[in-house]
Amino acid sequence: MELSLVLRLLVIGISISETWTQGRPGPMSSECLENFLCITLRAEYFEGKYLSLSAVDQSGIAWELDEALASQCGYTVTYSNWNNIEFRASALSCHSHVEKDTFTVTIQVKASHTPDMKNASIHLKSASCHYGPWSPRELVCETNFMEVSVRRDVPKTVKDFIQDEPEDQTLAFPEDKSGEASIWQVVFHQPEEKRALLVSDAWSAGYGLNITDTRILLRVPYNAAQTQLVKAQGITFSTVRSSTFYKQQWMILMVDTAVVCPVDGVDYTNKMIIWTVPKYIQALCTGATSFKDVLVEAGVNLHKLSAKEMASRKYVLSNDFDVITMKVPIGAEGGYYKTSVSSGRHGARYCINLFLEHQWEDNKWGLTKHTIIKEIETPFELVDLTVTNNSNLSARIMNVTVGMFLLDVELVNLTIEGVTVTVPEAVQHGYRMYEIRYANQSKAYVIQVPFDAPSIKKEYVRDDVRTYTLNVTLEFIIHPTSETFSVLVVTLSAVKDAVLPSARGFCDENNVHLHITHGNVDQDWMPFISGRHLTPEAAQKYNYNLSDNGTHLAISVPFLSSLLDYEDIHMSGVLASLHLTLKDGVTFANKKDFSISCRFSPSELIQCLPNGTVFITAVKLVRLADLDTSLLVLSDRNCKPSLVTEKTATFKFNVNTCGTRRKFNSTSITYENEVVYFRPGNDSPVYKLKFVCLYTIKQTVDVQYETKKNPSSSIKPGFGSLDLSLKLFKDKSYSDPYQELEFPVVKYLKEALYLEVELLQPADPRLELNLEDCWATNSQNQDSLPQWPILINGCENGKDSHRTVIHKVNYSNRVKFPQHLKRFEVTMFTFIEGTTPLQKQLYFHCSVVICSTTPQPSDFLCQRRCNPGKHRRDHSTVPQPHGQASSGAVLIRKENTTSRDELPTQQNLPPGALE
Ligand SMILES: *[C@@H]1O[C@H](CO)[C@@H](O)[C@H](O)[C@H]1NC(C)=O
Ligand SMILES: *[C@@H]1O[C@H](CO)[C@@H](O)[C@H](O)[C@H]1NC(C)=O
Ligand SMILES: *[C@@H]1O[C@H](CO)[C@@H](O)[C@H](O)[C@H]1NC(C)=O
Ligand SMILES: *[C@@H]1O[C@H](CO)[C@@H](O)[C@H](O)[C@H]1NC(C)=O
Ligand SMILES: *[C@@H]1O[C@H](CO)[C@@H](O)[C@H](O)[C@H]1NC(C)=O
Ligand SMILES: *[C@@H]1O[C@H](CO)[C@@H](O)[C@H](O)[C@H]1NC(C)=O
Ligand SMILES: *[C@@H]1O[C@H](CO)[C@@H](O)[C@H](O)[C@H]1NC(C)=O
Repeated sequence: MELSLVLRLLVIGISISETWTQGRPGPMSSECLENFLCITLRAEYFEGKYLSLSAVDQSGIAWELDEALASQCGYTVTYSNWNNIEFRASALSCHSHVEKDTFTVTIQVKASHTPDMKNASIHLKSASCHYGPWSPRELVCETNFMEVSVRRDVPKTVKDFIQDEPEDQTLAFPEDKSGEASIWQVVFHQPEEKRALLVSDAWSAGYGLNITDTRILLRVPYNAAQTQLVKAQGITFSTVRSSTFYKQQWMILMVDTAVVCPVDGVDYTNKMIIWTVPKYIQALCTGATSFKDVLVEAGVNLHKLSAKEMASRKYVLSNDFDVITMKVPIGAEGGYYKTSVSSGRHGARYCINLFLEHQWEDNKWGLTKHTIIKEIETPFELVDLTVTNNSNLSARIMNVTVGMFLLDVELVNLTIEGVTVTVPEAVQHGYRMYEIRYANQSKAYVIQVPFDAPSIKKEYVRDDVRTYTLNVTLEFIIHPTSETFSVLVVTLSAVKDAVLPSARGFCDENNVHLHITHGNVDQDWMPFISGRHLTPEAAQKYNYNLSDNGTHLAISVPFLSSLLDYEDIHMSGVLASLHLTLKDGVTFANKKDFSISCRFSPSELIQCLPNGTVFITAVKLVRLADLDTSLLVLSDRNCKPSLVTEKTATFKFNVNTCGTRRKFNSTSITYENEVVYFRPGNDSPVYKLKFVCLYTIKQTVDVQYETKKNPSSSIKPGFGSLDLSLKLFKDKSYSDPYQELEFPVVKYLKEALYLEVELLQPADPRLELNLEDCWATNSQNQDSLPQWPILINGCENGKDSHRTVIHKVNYSNRVKFPQHLKRFEVTMFTFIEGTTPLQKQLYFHCSVVICSTTPQPSDFLCQRRCNPGKHRRDHSTVPQPHGQASSGAVLIRKENTTSRDELPTQQNLPPGALE
């Protein structure tokens, strides 16, 4: 029992015991029960207020109650049915006004919204109760005090003796006004000693004493110094044995004011409360030898119950020889459940306020009435809470019911993701909460949260299923004790609303592109390629592009990247694949794979440069996972790559090295080689990439390829052009050619013209240029007529051989490969038609053949000399490249006095005529 100066009453809901029969009830109601006045303070009225209770005496002074004053003066304040406050005053309480068999008690209640009791409202309640007749001895065992009152009887003989002389008495005791009786002292009988206390000392020690017209009263708090614990039939009693001395007129009289109250005796077995009270306790019956029960009755909340009522509630009251037993099933009508917490766990206790009245008569003390009030609270019992998930998938709302709770529980806080918020604050997090009340004095809480609230954890499970998890801790407070407990609510709803990321891939000439459209489940998925996490930092290192604008993830990987896998090599290109995996950001579990394959024939793979240098890049194939790119070689195994990466090897070499093979035909030279890989100790290559460089005279030539079986692969050839030139020089030294701006070149009759035919590329020293026919025409078109032959099959024209001179070509600064050049000199007589020198422009043309200086079986062996009458072509079954070169325009003048601007005059010299 707790009574503090200020009672905080926090109440929710409505009063259970409320009766609405007489209109709206006031804040307090009273009831006379046995020798008590009970005043109930209604919860609904005093809800949430700070209270202070006082007893008001007859002169109107309010005595504020605290625990000590209450137990000394006969007051009890307790909760009834958990939320109402009940005030009980004994008939003989300090401030009650007793008149005959009626006692009147007045209380004052102050209620304020603040603990300092400012602006308190004051409520007075006064009520009178009739009680009687009084038994000679009445004992009350309240929850906070023991009380005994004994009729004061002046023996008959003494009465007769004193009845005549009231005045004398006043004279003898002047301080004793109006001859009223008063207590003089109390003597406590303790085992070791007798201790006498004067009234004032007894008051100071917490005892309550009074004398009324008819009775002597002693009230003892359970914790008073002179109480002793005694056992009777296994039950412990608190007892105070005392004699009270009082003055009446000129006499001092003494009464025995022993009081005995049981402090235990309650057992719980088989869902039953068993309350045992031994009868005729020694301390109350000293000297008596025969006893007779006059009345044994019991009830709840000071209401006596008839045998019929007890039976209907399944109570059992049995009165045996020396003991009274009351059995009440736990949960029976009359009591109530309240919520309780043990080790943080939710449970309940059953509470019932029983009372027993035992009246007996014995041969020494006459009639005794013993009233025992027992507030019983059963031990803690765990009560499981159920969490029901009624989530509404179509409305996308988590709807969870948590229950069942008793009405003394209130939801106050929610802890969401580690943050504690009050119920009103939780609304801002999308939480909606309300109570559902049930008829049996219980309730449940409904919590609703939209699926898309930030605190709802979404998780992708499989296929199109996502789970939504509500994970919230509910914090409750229990009224009126303010105990707290919390309930973890974790509920899961599976919804088919997952959208997986999708991808679109494409390739351009040099890159593989993958565009991933994010779904709603992949926020934390990370892109990986070949075990590498794709990050903006790694993008720089591995030379790919990565961008994510929130809805799309775009990745571009260049064709030659270690992120790509090369599946095969084919004439039409290299099949490259990008395999991207999205992994869970936490568990790294594979969630989704995307692949894209493209065939590339990028120009960089092979390059055939004019100076005869070849760049070839070989790629590692997936099926040769152990291939070490640095060990790739060319036909000549000494030719190693000049640049290697994890998946590529690039070689740089000249066409006349590294075992390169040559082939000729009428329009081109083909250089062939291959990149090969040998496993150690194995002579046949596991990897063979064939490639060619094709130098053609006309670049329109298309080349046919054949696919070879593995392990040999080949790629489209690299193209180069076979370039020829026919230049005019100013003199025999062949050091000063006519430049473009100097054309048309003007020459006079008899003057010599120096011509040079050159193979410009490829710069392969193993090639030789040989002249076939050279001739001159009037127009740029080499086939136009008339034609003046200069060389035929590489020989000077027989008709005017003295006019054409072939010059040997030697190595010089300008001439690295003399075999690539042919020079000859022509005199200007050759081009006279009749007697008239040519008035038109002249163009020179040569047809050439390219052949080999270091003959291979398949190569054409060059004729070193002019061999008239023999056609070179007939010499070989292998065709060789033929080309043509033409010069710029040349004008012929008759005399060297003619100005350059003057047109040449018409002459009619026959062809081949002499000057
Ligand atoms: C004793 O009882 C009388 C009558 O009820 C009451 O007026 C008086 O205040 C009481 N005195 C004490 C000290 O309790
Ligand atoms: C939530 O569940 C409660 C209890 O089952 C139900 O009464 C209520 O209609 C539900 N609300 C929604 C929005 O589904
Ligand atoms: C509820 O939260 C408030 C403030 O966060 C805190 O003061 C209070 O103790 C909490 N109550 C319970 C029952 O957890
Ligand atoms: C619920 O949340 C708490 C804290 O936020 C966390 O420790 C716990 O693991 C979560 N429980 C579940 C089942 O997700
Ligand atoms: C992200 O990029 C994609 C494709 O590049 C485009 O369609 C989309 O509109 C972009 N979204 C935003 C938010 O910029
Ligand atoms: C041919 O040209 C390339 C590119 O200009 C150069 O790297 C290479 O060294 C040259 N080769 C020779 C033999 O000069
Ligand atoms: C010469 O060889 C190339 C490449 O092998 C071929 O494409 C071309 O047709 C051949 N030319 C002739 C005239 O045979």
